[in-house]
Amino acid sequence: MINSLNMSPIKIRKICCIGAGYVGGPTMSVIADRCPELEIRVVDINKERIAAWNDSDLNKLPIFEPGLDQIISRTRGRNLFFSSEMKKSIFGADMIFISVNTPTKTKGLGAGQASDLSWLEASARQVAKYANGHTIVVEKSTLPVRTAQAIKEILNTANRENQKNKISKTFSVLSNPEFLAEGTAIKDLENPDRVLIGGEDPDAVKALVNIYLNWVPRKQIICTNLWSSELSKLAANAFLAQRISSINSISAFCEATGADIQEVATAIGMDKRIGNQFLCAGPGFGGSCFKKDILNLVYLSGYFGLPEVANYWNQVLLLNTWQQDRIYKIVLEKLFGTVGGKNIAILGFSFKANTNDTRESPAIRIASDLLEEGALLSIYDPKVSFKRIREDLEQFSSNNQGTWKMASSIPDALENVDAVLILTAWDEFFGLDWNSLASLMRSPAWIFDTRSVVNRKDIEDTSLNLWKLGEGN
Ligand code: UDX
Ligand code: ADP
Repeated sequence: MINSLNMSPIKIRKICCIGAGYVGGPTMSVIADRCPELEIRVVDINKERIAAWNDSDLNKLPIFEPGLDQIISRTRGRNLFFSSEMKKSIFGADMIFISVNTPTKTKGLGAGQASDLSWLEASARQVAKYANGHTIVVEKSTLPVRTAQAIKEILNTANRENQKNKISKTFSVLSNPEFLAEGTAIKDLENPDRVLIGGEDPDAVKALVNIYLNWVPRKQIICTNLWSSELSKLAANAFLAQRISSINSISAFCEATGADIQEVATAIGMDKRIGNQFLCAGPGFGGSCFKKDILNLVYLSGYFGLPEVANYWNQVLLLNTWQQDRIYKIVLEKLFGTVGGKNIAILGFSFKANTNDTRESPAIRIASDLLEEGALLSIYDPKVSFKRIREDLEQFSSNNQGTWKMASSIPDALENVDAVLILTAWDEFFGLDWNSLASLMRSPAWIFDTRSVVNRKDIEDTSLNLWKLGEGN
């Protein structure tokens, strides 16, 4: 641990962030907001995305995050700029954050497990080419352990070339993993549980610590070596995902025995050693991180000769897929073993509430399975676009016997359906007037509630049947 953190001799004035996605966009917005003296340029190869970040209509920002629009309206054009001008933005920067996508590899060695680092490598090469003077490079993307080494090697090779050509460029590499959760990104960034900075160059570490000190108390900023920082991010996500698989396994147990998952979760969570967070049973975890990070752990465990460790973490993933399959099979069973030609509404397509992100959303697998069985789906989500859903469903399955359409509201989705399946806990799905909604549906209709948003007493006077995850019926 690096403890003595006085003022850094390195003064940061200009920051560049490569990657204007769910991590880069909100993170840089909050830094710009809290550090008005810094000039921050966020660059992305995706011109459409940059145009959306620059749109004067804040409803058209490329990502939806509560509170983001207000911060953008304060900072954009003041000290926060979005552009596709890679060379200029990198050249002038004292510190460069790399915040590009690192999806799971789809082919080659480690396919299906290891992360595809091509975007990261391309970014490091751009930094090596265009940077000027001494530059601190900060890895922000979720990455497998020892990726900083790869970045260092690319930068050092470039450095040797530069020295030959008498160009002066030097680099320090830091790891500063992001712990924000989508839907609460602004709150998480403004009030982080901790900020983690890994690195070996104390001056570079101090320079980054000084930025965070603008709003984060010193005791919440942890400085470690590079590898601890990288591994901590993977391990934190694996632990969180493991809790979800644990509670989901108990949800199936509750349905089988008559126990109630809400009561069990409350009872477990009141034990201070366990804590009450991340105990909501649901259709399985989605999002860009959990699955990818566990796959990375599994891959690396195998690589380092630790098959038992690999099997242990793999089980968390297997349980997650099993939970999604289980829900689809329950729908099928309750609808007399066939959904062919039946109308089913899906409420919620994003992987969680308050985001328009659908990466690894349980809705994709469950909707695709129903479509393969010939169901006629009407999908409603307050923030996910038609284009996004179409791409997700097309990528997941090519064997759809059914059809789907996008609904414009909850009543529109429920018109004439045999069942409604609630997959995301959007605020507007709570406290619905099921008495009037029931009249839109075909009787006898089912509600399948996987997020515990429906109160059983609210359907007592209707003809509706209710199945709740972790409760049954
Ligand atoms: C996660 C981590 O929380 C965050 O620290 C990291 O930086 C990125 O990955 P995110 O994926 O955005 O964040 O959202 P999170 O709130 O963790 O939810 C992930 C998934 O787990 C969602 O599908 C959510 O619905 C599900 N979940 C979460 C549950 O099913 N039950 C819970 O109790 C909590
Ligand atoms: P995350 O959730 O990690 O932020 P996203 O996919 O939302 O992931 O965002 C990553 C962004 O990085 C994308 O907008 C993508 O276009 C951008 N990107 C990928 N490679 C590069 C690159 N070499 N230079 C600039 N931007 C890049």
